[in-house]
Amino acid sequence: MRVLIAGGDGYLGWPTAMYLSRRGHEVAVLDNFAKRRWEMERNVEPLIPICTLHDRVKAWREVSGRTMELFVADLRNYGVVKEALETFRPEAIVHYGEQPSAPYSMIDHNRAVFTQVNNLSGTLNLLWAMRECAPDCHLVKLGTMGEYGTPNIDIEEGFIEIEHKGRRDTLPFPKQPGSFYHLSKVHDSHNILFACRIWKLRSTDLNQGVVYGIDTDETLLDPRLATSFHYDEVFGTALNRFCVQAVAGLPLTVYGRGGQRRGFLNIRDTLRCVELSIVHPPQAGEYRVFNQFTETFNILELAELVKKQAAQLGMDVRIQHLENPRVEAEEHYYNPRHQKLIELGLVPHLLSDVLLTSMLERVREHAHRIKQDIILPHVTWDRRRAADARTPRART
Ligand SMILES: NC(=O)c1ccc[n+]([C@@H]2O[C@H](COP(=O)([O-])OP(=O)(O)OC[C@H]3O[C@@H](n4cnc5c(N)ncnc54)[C@H](O)[C@@H]3O)[C@@H](O)[C@H]2O)c1
Repeated sequence: MRVLIAGGDGYLGWPTAMYLSRRGHEVAVLDNFAKRRWEMERNVEPLIPICTLHDRVKAWREVSGRTMELFVADLRNYGVVKEALETFRPEAIVHYGEQPSAPYSMIDHNRAVFTQVNNLSGTLNLLWAMRECAPDCHLVKLGTMGEYGTPNIDIEEGFIEIEHKGRRDTLPFPKQPGSFYHLSKVHDSHNILFACRIWKLRSTDLNQGVVYGIDTDETLLDPRLATSFHYDEVFGTALNRFCVQAVAGLPLTVYGRGGQRRGFLNIRDTLRCVELSIVHPPQAGEYRVFNQFTETFNILELAELVKKQAAQLGMDVRIQHLENPRVEAEEHYYNPRHQKLIELGLVPHLLSDVLLTSMLERVREHAHRIKQDIILPHVTWDRRRAADARTPRART
């Protein structure tokens, strides 16, 4: 199948491109390198050095013998999006090409507006270009479990059957997202649903949990094929930050009480979920939603797991609770369904002691590159505290 990966230079986009290419799909990657600019803006970089996308594509050809087309293109530019679809004629588009950080979207007015304009206009351009030149193409769009928030009822996969005043209907599941970034994903979902309904496009919206993991079978083939690993307050996830803090001899900083429960999955499962979505496409006009995660943890449980594994490696780690920079429930009910990808054949790689140990060991190999001053949170959600405050407070 001909698959276009939008955001193909990213943490998930690049490994997905190699994974699908290795399985015989004809793959093209598209990116405008915005992430690399945001990194410079924040003076952060991935812990493990990564090559440029041009060099990665070249290295992939040397290592695998397979070619990949490369589009340097901004999804906000309708002309280049259309041109990419006309030239490459994809049968599936995997759309990762968005600003992916909640804290980034909460820094200030500019970044909130940028996040929504970037994410919404990129997706809208893809939808219009599909309508114009690839109406049978399948859009596999990366959304997030954060679209749902943490309601006090079970979370369904995209839709809920409701009875109201004696009448029944199946409607989109209510969304209560927790940042301007998460809101951008909700707005995208509405736009995609609408386009499928009116233009008979087909799409799978993958409401993905937090992804962890550094290596895939393909990144391990050559150091030039490595993917990014962020651990800073803006682009790093809690698990990545904890691994780096453990290796650097810093306390593992848990936001608030740490009872925030979320869905997680291994990067290898992300690749498999995308593949399963592609090879089992929806019907024309169908918009479907899969909740893409394999297990849930709360933040304190994650910190405890890292602490335990780090101790096995001789690291003496303590956990510190910080005042929560976000506005979110710190104890809550959380029971989202995640059956549909399992039914299609996903066999999860769960977060094991072995995997955590290998993450800690990989981080330790690059310990000399850790910048300790980029880990603690300064971006806050609360308007009574400065948005980019300088001193995170320990919670007593
Ligand atoms: N990584 C996770 O844990 C996670 C969890 C849930 C959802 N997601 C979603 O999955 C997608 C990929 O996440 P990631 O972690 O790989 O992020 P990433 O930032 O590493 O990759 C995103 C890529 O998209 C590119 N991009 C952004 N705007 C663009 C534009 N206008 N035109 C062209 N390219 C553009 C960036 O340069 C970057 O290379 C994102 O949409 C993210 O919201 C990620």
